[in-house]
Amino acid sequence: MKILVTGGTGYIGSHTVVLLIQEGYEVIILDNLSNSKIEVLDSIKEITNIKPQFYQVDLLDYDGVKKIFQENEISGVIHFAGLKAVGESVRIPLDYYNNNITGTLNLLRIMNEHNVKNIIFSSSATVYGMNNESPLYETMPLSTTNPYGATKRMIEDIMRDLYVSDNEWSIVLLRYFNPIGAHESALIGENPNGIPNNLLPYIALVAVGKLDHLNVFGNDYDTIDGTGVRDYIHVVDLAMGHIKALKYAMDHTGAEAINLGTGNGTSVLEIVKAFESASGQHIEYVIQPRRPGDVATCFANSNKAKELLGWSATKNINDMCVDGWNFIAHVTNN
Ligand code: NAD
Ligand code: UFG
Repeated sequence: MKILVTGGTGYIGSHTVVLLIQEGYEVIILDNLSNSKIEVLDSIKEITNIKPQFYQVDLLDYDGVKKIFQENEISGVIHFAGLKAVGESVRIPLDYYNNNITGTLNLLRIMNEHNVKNIIFSSSATVYGMNNESPLYETMPLSTTNPYGATKRMIEDIMRDLYVSDNEWSIVLLRYFNPIGAHESALIGENPNGIPNNLLPYIALVAVGKLDHLNVFGNDYDTIDGTGVRDYIHVVDLAMGHIKALKYAMDHTGAEAINLGTGNGTSVLEIVKAFESASGQHIEYVIQPRRPGDVATCFANSNKAKELLGWSATKNINDMCVDGWNFIAHVTNN
């Protein structure tokens, strides 16, 4: 069975491609390489012995995407491709709306034309906004505070409307919490260009000595130690959630939003400690004011994923830090 993975050379996409191949699916990757590298394909081959078919195509290139559907009999799509930096989305909103929304509309139209009606979409816990209290349930009202988040909420709406218009569609909207860590082989992981915005890639660069300290954004929240609490989830657990969601989509129609989180919250300082013990490195940190737009606490209720998909997270914070550290140490040494 051929599965098209958009954004398949990216961080979460590449881990999902590995599991898809290991589960016996034939994988076609579409990526424009705007935020990933072609070498990821070699790493996937090293892990699985199979190099997936690759198209360097932009989702904004309607004819280019159409050609992939003409050349292949595709049974389902896992749609990761998108721009994802919150701060950048505030600076260049039109690029974000164009890339994420227009790109998705192109994909959905072409899928419709080719009668491919199964899609798994990368949504985000960001759609719960600032006004809901954790644990966050899929039924809670949605709101967003930046263009990136707005694209996720709008795409969810578009896909729900699509299902209402045609009940043959099978759509799973996976709301990720905070993916971290890397494949245990240390061959694939997250390695952003420039100075990272997210906590784990930032800590990793402090650990390897490329940055001299971590800025901790706020220690006066109403949390266990005053620092922000998030639901960190191992990227391989997250990838496995997509395999389960794909199987679910193949047997059900509908448009279901499902949280992929562990259901547990961990503070910034708890992560610092866990990373120190995983890496054996000291992480220097400085307390800074709160970062605008951050909530104190964000973690999932993960019952729906268990009930509908038979999925729950298996890896703990220590696994996430060890695998994340091994990957960054591998990248730094090569
Ligand atoms: P990533 O940037 O590593 O991967 C996204 C991939 O999409 C990249 O390889 C990029 O080159 C590609 N891409 C972007 N625009 C494209 C286009 N127009 N055409 C073709 N390819 C394009 O990001 P990731 O962390 O793997 O995230 C995957 C998805 O999950 C994204 O949609 C992201 O918004 C969502 N998500 C990520 C997180 C997170 O913390 N990483 C959290 C919630 C949701
Ligand atoms: N933090 C720091 N210092 C840093 C970076 C982060 O103290 O240098 C803190 C933040 O204040 C927050 C926690 O670490 O308390 C996590 O921050 P991240 O930036 O790693 O993650 P967020 O929860 O802010 O957001 C991430 C993605 C969003 C996504 C959301 C939910 O960046 O795109 O998870 O999935 F929407």
